[in-house]
Amino acid sequence: MPETTVSTGQSLHSLEDWDEFLEGRYKEGRSQEQFRVYDAQAQPGVAEFYRLNHENQTLAYVLRKEKEYFSLKKGKKTIWEAAEFLNTLVDDSDPDTDLTQIEHLMQTSEAIRRDGHPRWMVLVGFLHDLGKCLCLYGEPQWGVVGDTFPVGCAWSKDIVFHEYFANNPDRNIAEYQTKHGIYEPNCGLQNVHMSFGHDGYIAEVMKPYLQDEALYMLRFHSFYPWHRHGAYDHLCNDKDRSMLEWVLKFNQYDLYSKGHTRPDVKQLKPWYDELFAEFLPAEIDW
Ligand SMILES: [Fe+2]
Ligand SMILES: [Fe+2]
Repeated sequence: MPETTVSTGQSLHSLEDWDEFLEGRYKEGRSQEQFRVYDAQAQPGVAEFYRLNHENQTLAYVLRKEKEYFSLKKGKKTIWEAAEFLNTLVDDSDPDTDLTQIEHLMQTSEAIRRDGHPRWMVLVGFLHDLGKCLCLYGEPQWGVVGDTFPVGCAWSKDIVFHEYFANNPDRNIAEYQTKHGIYEPNCGLQNVHMSFGHDGYIAEVMKPYLQDEALYMLRFHSFYPWHRHGAYDHLCNDKDRSMLEWVLKFNQYDLYSKGHTRPDVKQLKPWYDELFAEFLPAEIDW
């Protein structure tokens, strides 16, 4: 069988576009019908992004990327080094008004901290998008950001731009098109292969150090079909269901903490140095 063609989707001008698209889609109080209208009117770049994502995220692609990245062979870095590395991602929208990647991370973590949540959750806020450094390893944007979903089983109707799965080669593999696909009913999300992206990668990097609640927030923060729409319960076990409330708690900060006030990274750095040292070794395998 020929390899899936993997084209680089550079049609989204910046990673921020995707986050903004999500914010718009999940604005408080929107109905399902309004989501659809919003999607239809979304910038063509967003539709093109999801077309590439849905056509290329096959089970074979995911297994290949998991093998490549989940062995953490990209070298050791401190959290600050990883954040500085992510900062080199050039955003080609207005550089004067847009926040850097580090400022975005800190906006999320500072909002969590202001609301008095536990320190490990503040840490999750800072870490959650560090996996976007996959772009700097040469991964296309459609393979780094976007909603995530299980592969190797039927695609839920709740996945945005569902129609683009029509051209995914897994469409032709009967076993992958059944409700449970290659999985046992209620096998638990830890046994499910998710479409590849920054969420799964950062969760894998942090697996040795953080508690389950934190790892669920990292691994599933873009799994909107599950945490927003209640899809895929047939693959979940009781642990997944009990973790859902933490994923939802985190999601509101991911969606709504973005503003235009620049956090003072330099001034906050000592506080974060202590936070990182409390949970993580100085250097981490990426
Ligand atoms: Fe994210
Ligand atoms: Fe985020």
